[in-house]
Amino acid sequence: MRTRLVAGNWKMHGSRAENGPRLKAIAQAAPAIAGVECAVCVPFPYLAQAAEALAGSGVALGAQNVSEHEPGAWTGEVCASMLADFGCRYAIVGHSERRQHFGESDRQVAAKFGAALAHGLVPILCVGETLAEREAGRTGEVVGRQLEAVLERAGRQAFAQAVIAYEPVWAIGTGKTATPAMVQEVHALLREQVLPQTRILYGGSVKAANAAALFALPDVDGGLIGGASLVAEEFLAIARAAQRKD
Ligand code: PGA
Repeated sequence: MRTRLVAGNWKMHGSRAENGPRLKAIAQAAPAIAGVECAVCVPFPYLAQAAEALAGSGVALGAQNVSEHEPGAWTGEVCASMLADFGCRYAIVGHSERRQHFGESDRQVAAKFGAALAHGLVPILCVGETLAEREAGRTGEVVGRQLEAVLERAGRQAFAQAVIAYEPVWAIGTGKTATPAMVQEVHALLREQVLPQTRILYGGSVKAANAAALFALPDVDGGLIGGASLVAEEFLAIARAAQRKD
């Protein structure tokens, strides 16, 4: 049985003052949500604050990006061993905002994935199509290509640990959620390429109101939550919706 995972992606939001109460609320409530692993992926400067606030709560810590490089002369980069040093369990790689706005290529995403794994982090590999790609009937081809780049480099066995997040680009931060049928179709396609135990999350405008319908799908193992993860009660409600009903 795959353990459900609900991970918050705070993106570039937060301040020490705002984070404190949010982290405290999550750390207090999450242990009662049996059978669901919660994680928060915070901006780099807040890793230490989050690690301290979440200590002992069972809520995992994650980063939103990781360098593909080992320590060295890479100004402005943060490497996987540093994230591990701060107690991170997860690192998001290949988020569409990084692919779109920072020009990350499939090759680079695969390298980041490898760097995370090499340092004992669990990569959360994001894949997803744009609206134009979906409308052109290219969804399967696009997510297949994004995943294939990682499989070629890291091998299928890497997905014994690694997590995938299917995030249609047109559903991120737009309030438009993919229909359950669309989500299940892509998740099933992805699952064929990885392992039966690989957790495949859905992301894109997930909120408490639509989470249960998405988490009821056979190949959805949780969610990667952006905007809604910034409100502790909303994030916790989504995590509760991920509890298995059987
Ligand atoms: P959203 O973001 O929930 O705000 O749509 C999801 C993500 O980008 O991971």
